[in-house]
Amino acid sequence: MPDEFDEDLLETARRELAGGATAPREFQFACALSEIPPAGGRGKVIRYEDTEVALFHLTGEIFAISNICPHELSPLLAAGTVNCQARTVTCPLHGWTFGIDTGKRTDGPGATPAYDVRIESGEVWIRLRE
Ligand code: FES
Repeated sequence: MPDEFDEDLLETARRELAGGATAPREFQFACALSEIPPAGGRGKVIRYEDTEVALFHLTGEIFAISNICPHELSPLLAAGTVNCQARTVTCPLHGWTFGIDTGKRTDGPGATPAYDVRIESGEVWIRLRE
């Protein structure tokens, strides 16, 4: 677990969580499909200049949500426990659980941003919002 959090990333997450990020951007390259751990494994973190994204592999599909858990704005969701059947990830700090395909919390109110994903020729592309 990191000792310090990147304040720029946290500020972006706060803005997104407050509903301030709604306009879709262009798709941006994330990584090779082969770089994402197999289904049920941890997420792969992709860092853009002001956003941190967790990519998850769920039985043949790739999903992208913010890596920032809205509980304490901790950048840890990629390190959470994945449940492929329920399609959820559980934050390793205090156990909040989110739908990997929606970003919505499944055990209470709240959500983390979810992003569009496109796979092209073995490459993963993500569309962020601004
Ligand atoms: S920081 Fe994620 S549940 Fe507390």
